[in-house]
Amino acid sequence: MKSQIQTHGVQLASAKDVFLIAFILLQLLDDSFATEAPIVTISTGLVLGKRVSLRNDFLEQVDQYLGIPYAVPPIGDKRFRGTTYPVASWDDILNATTFGPVCPQAILDVDAATPRWIQKPIEDSKPFLEKMDEDCLYINVYVPLRSK
Ligand SMILES: *[C@@H]1O[C@H](CO)[C@@H](O)[C@H](O)[C@H]1NC(C)=O
Repeated sequence: MKSQIQTHGVQLASAKDVFLIAFILLQLLDDSFATEAPIVTISTGLVLGKRVSLRNDFLEQVDQYLGIPYAVPPIGDKRFRGTTYPVASWDDILNATTFGPVCPQAILDVDAATPRWIQKPIEDSKPFLEKMDEDCLYINVYVPLRSK
């Protein structure tokens, strides 16, 4: 038998409905829970981001959306031609929690003769240059929740 919540014989809602409503209210009340995995809608579809704390002096937490395609890459038989807009829209939620590939480029070598102030930024950038591809027209968006 389906369980019901009744008040003076008036059927209000099924237990399942109450659970669903409570769940939605919890999500609205508990902001951190609701936005652990922020989802936004852009013109091409839904985008799943990630709430993170950045290591800097200016922003507290941000919602970051990484690797959102912003133009059709000129690859294959379109190589060296112009790009086109917009990209095709998607039906699923785009998982934008990891960086898209970067455009192919030479990674500079550092050696003992390289000045320290040049070494550090080169070394720091290396993890971001691991994924290279001609298909590299992706943008990263950082949405600050609050400035310090
Ligand atoms: C999104 O991608 C990340 C990294 O690949 C993965 O860990 C996570 O489970 C994915 N989230 C969803 C909802 O698919």
